[in-house]
Amino acid sequence: MKSYSINELLQSPPLKQKVEVNGWVKTFRSNRFIALNDGSTIKNIQCVVDFERFDEDLLKKIATGAALKIKGVLVESLGKGQSVEIQAEEIFVHGLSDPDSYPIQPKKHSMEFLREQAHLRIRTNTFAAVMRVRSALSFAIHAYFQKNGFYYFHAPIITGSDAEGAGEMFRVSTLDPKNPPLTDSGEVNYKEDFFGKETNLTVSGQLEAEAYAMGLGKVYTFGPTFRAENSNTSRHLAEFWMIEPEMAFYDLKDNMDLAEDFIKNIISYLLENCEEDLAFLENRLLDEEKTKPMAERSDMKLTERLKFVVDNEFIRITYTEAIDILRNSKPNKKKKFQYLINEWGADLQSEHERYLVEKHFKCPVILFDYPAKIKAFYMRLNEDGKTVRAMDILFPGIGEIVGGSQREERLDVLKEKIAALGIDEKELWWYLDLRKFGTAVHSGFGLGFERMVQFTTGMGNIRDVIPFPRTPQNAEF
Ligand code: 4AD
Ligand code: MG
Repeated sequence: MKSYSINELLQSPPLKQKVEVNGWVKTFRSNRFIALNDGSTIKNIQCVVDFERFDEDLLKKIATGAALKIKGVLVESLGKGQSVEIQAEEIFVHGLSDPDSYPIQPKKHSMEFLREQAHLRIRTNTFAAVMRVRSALSFAIHAYFQKNGFYYFHAPIITGSDAEGAGEMFRVSTLDPKNPPLTDSGEVNYKEDFFGKETNLTVSGQLEAEAYAMGLGKVYTFGPTFRAENSNTSRHLAEFWMIEPEMAFYDLKDNMDLAEDFIKNIISYLLENCEEDLAFLENRLLDEEKTKPMAERSDMKLTERLKFVVDNEFIRITYTEAIDILRNSKPNKKKKFQYLINEWGADLQSEHERYLVEKHFKCPVILFDYPAKIKAFYMRLNEDGKTVRAMDILFPGIGEIVGGSQREERLDVLKEKIAALGIDEKELWWYLDLRKFGTAVHSGFGLGFERMVQFTTGMGNIRDVIPFPRTPQNAEF
């Protein structure tokens, strides 16, 4: 007998034939109705149990969380909410679940509680929906790039270059921490370490992607990156996934055009392919918003928000224009910002980014041409000598979702910047080589994958859109 997924069965007409399903019990009502879910869809299939047919002891043991195989006839359902159901004829127990100690009860649990049960939280509707959307989003990202002539490039996870400057790094070492070899001057001697030098987990695949763009033309990375910042916010993870396209012969405008088209495309894919999960997440969000004060509630539902992004052009303004807006804004004048904007050159905090997106423009915003001082060394210097061709994309509810730039392709300018930062040229010898041998205008950006999953699922905390989050003081699973 063919085993069907619940998703397949729920879309099938009442076959009036015997079918087989496997799944976990969501609820077992009145000793008669088992709601079974196998992860293939947010919906459960109802299995009707005629208690006279089955051993009473067996039925008594079946509770929420148990894994079952059920064979029975697929018939038309008279109940609400489903067109078909299974008249159970055989029940096989894969594994029982003790109802008194199973943490995932058929009731509402707090996100905090579920984080402590990260190995079981996928059995809830919310997490299953989020993770299906996450999977679909990954597919959409690959599909977009593959369709548009990009090659998937695998950046190394362990890196010997620490010059990206994107944040604190996690050291990778096989030295004995209790008794490391020392140099004559008493420092740890990394020459004796596994790689013969200091190495770390990567914060970004960009520098390596630049090398590959200079031969393959258009590449993208999609992999984990690591940042050892002690940021305990709802937008930061110590291990997160990033998508980094890098394109030869693209300038900053080409880069912004690509980023906008890319984002719209992957969100459209979700709207077309994840309808049920998005509808569920939209309702979940509506419920959650009801617990918030009026002023903090969003005036758009989840899918409206997604459609809005797809249908509207992103606002593009320079950093300088943004500073003018912020300087004259109400919260700045009334000293409501934690960091007041007084002068040009100030780094923007998330309160400023969110003001621009959520209050001023009410639309995704691309900020570009930032002061060189607050951006990475590899960004291309503008003719004014003080701004660089950087661009950040800011999203409602999220803040920065993309960071990117046109890269400095001129050897002399790049060398000057490296020297000014006190970075040893030798550390970047191979990166500088790219500017010696057939250098070209090129650009790229990084999309924070979890921030995009947050935006598309409406989840408030980034810890709830990655299976096993890594944050300060937390790597339990
Ligand atoms: O702005 P970032 O630091 O840019 C880079 O790493 C460049 N090398 C990208 C490039 O040009 N190829 O990071 C890019 C994005 C951010 O906009 C944000 O969405 C996300 O990565 N991000 C994080 N997401 C979760 N947790 C963190 N700690 C993050 N740090 C950055
Ligand atoms: Mg950034």
